[in-house]
Amino acid sequence: MQNDIQEILISEEEIQQRIRELGAQLSIEYAGRTPLVICVLKGAFIFMADLVKVITVPVEMDFMAVSSYGASTKSSGVVKIIKDLDVPVEGRDVLIVEDIIDSGLTLSYLIELLQARNSKSISVVTLFDKPAGRTVNLEAGYTGFVLPDEFVVGYGLDYAERYRNLPYVGVLKPEIYSN
Ligand code: PRP
Ligand code: MN
Ligand code: MG
Repeated sequence: MQNDIQEILISEEEIQQRIRELGAQLSIEYAGRTPLVICVLKGAFIFMADLVKVITVPVEMDFMAVSSYGASTKSSGVVKIIKDLDVPVEGRDVLIVEDIIDSGLTLSYLIELLQARNSKSISVVTLFDKPAGRTVNLEAGYTGFVLPDEFVVGYGLDYAERYRNLPYVGVLKPEIYSN
């Protein structure tokens, strides 16, 4: 275990098993269609990479970078587009891939944006959900794990850009972010 981690909440094996299940469900949902799978950078990049490998329908992919947390553990409430999509979403079945839904601000902003661009359908898959953090009423169609109201890192989730590469999800030692 990485030295800054106090406790592993979800192991690498549990994560990979759940992603295989989500991939199987999404393959049924999108049978006969070619969804445009949108990765919300940066946090979702590891989940995206593992998820698309276990989806069996043809997919197209694009990447969008947004940020609301910066180097803080609290959402600023303002969602910034760092990088927009390269391809048009008009008429497309869009699948948004997120690592985590907390307040819901990032996703509600994105969903409104993609609706305004006339996507045909929008569905959301998130690996983690923290319902206790919600300030806007929003739920993903597909959720991997529900998390307790604790600040966690790993598998894409960062604290000040670090720990995204951990293959599991864990709780940081408090001294790491209290100073
Ligand atoms: C994190 C996470 C989600 C969002 C969830 O991203 O990856 O995108 O916050 O929080 P919310 O539901 O309260 O909006 P962050 O803004 O930290 O950017 P990052 O993905 O680059 O780490
Ligand atoms: Mn993010
Ligand atoms: Mg972040």
